[in-house]
Amino acid sequence: MSGLSIQNLSMRFDLPGGGHVQALQDVSLDLKAGELLSVLGPSGCGKTTLLNIVAGFLAPTEGKMILNEHEINGPDAERGMVFQQGALFEWMSVRENVGFGPSMKGMPKREKVEIVDHLLDVVGLQDFKEKAVYELSGGMQQRVALARCLANDPDVILMDEPLGALDALTREKMQSLVLKLWKETGKTIILITHSVEEALLLGERLLVMAPRPGRIHKEYRLPFAEMGVGQDLREVKKNPEFAERREEILGMIWDMEEEIMGRTEAAS
Ligand SMILES: Nc1ncnc2c1ncn2[C@@H]1O[C@H](COP(=O)(O)OP(=O)(O)O)[C@@H](O)[C@H]1O
Ligand SMILES: [Mg+2]
Repeated sequence: MSGLSIQNLSMRFDLPGGGHVQALQDVSLDLKAGELLSVLGPSGCGKTTLLNIVAGFLAPTEGKMILNEHEINGPDAERGMVFQQGALFEWMSVRENVGFGPSMKGMPKREKVEIVDHLLDVVGLQDFKEKAVYELSGGMQQRVALARCLANDPDVILMDEPLGALDALTREKMQSLVLKLWKETGKTIILITHSVEEALLLGERLLVMAPRPGRIHKEYRLPFAEMGVGQDLREVKKNPEFAERREEILGMIWDMEEEIMGRTEAAS
């Protein structure tokens, strides 16, 4: 497994009424297998576009991506996506949702049952496996989404604000779960978030993006994800370096937002 190489990606959307949006410009990035990257940036800086391109849902206008020595040119089970919410099959039970990928692959039933049971254990939902999705809380639904993604055994997991719709306490528990899954599975993960704290906690590498055109503004290597694997996240947040980085990045994002507001006001 050699990792993911994103090379000079650009994405331009032509608008129906004329004009265009440069959603990404010349984004390059190399991720080693097993690395955990968080991506942060103001709204509209191209985070979702970047993830959709890596997922193969969108073709970039320029650039290419190599995963484990082959070029990415469309969706594939080697890259799994976890959305913010609402992407589960509502008419299926928890067990059926998690077993969906293995079923599609034609996996023998016994093997599928084993995998599903194991993953439900890992995400703490063993007692809920016969429940319907609508009977679960938001946090539980995201656990199902994580387990369903893992059931396909992807090399790369892509998460677009997967915890964004959860209340603060549930969110913190889920952050710990993401770290645990990362360590236990050794998967390469790209996680997009709006929250500076979450990006710091969940990224051993953190990318700050800037808008118009969407691009990489700054990259960090951080110790907090590794610390959070064996430690309460609230303890990690008390680390002086954590507070320092948080202030620095908050200031950075604040300046970008100001600039966007300024431009909007000037245009109106
Ligand atoms: N299908 C599309 N057509 C036109 N513009 C788009 C499309 N998708 C995204 N955009 C624009 O591209 C920019 C980046 O969007 P997006 O990737 O969703 O940003 P983020 O996820 O960081 O908020 C925004 O200006 C957005 O309006
Ligand atoms: Mg987005």
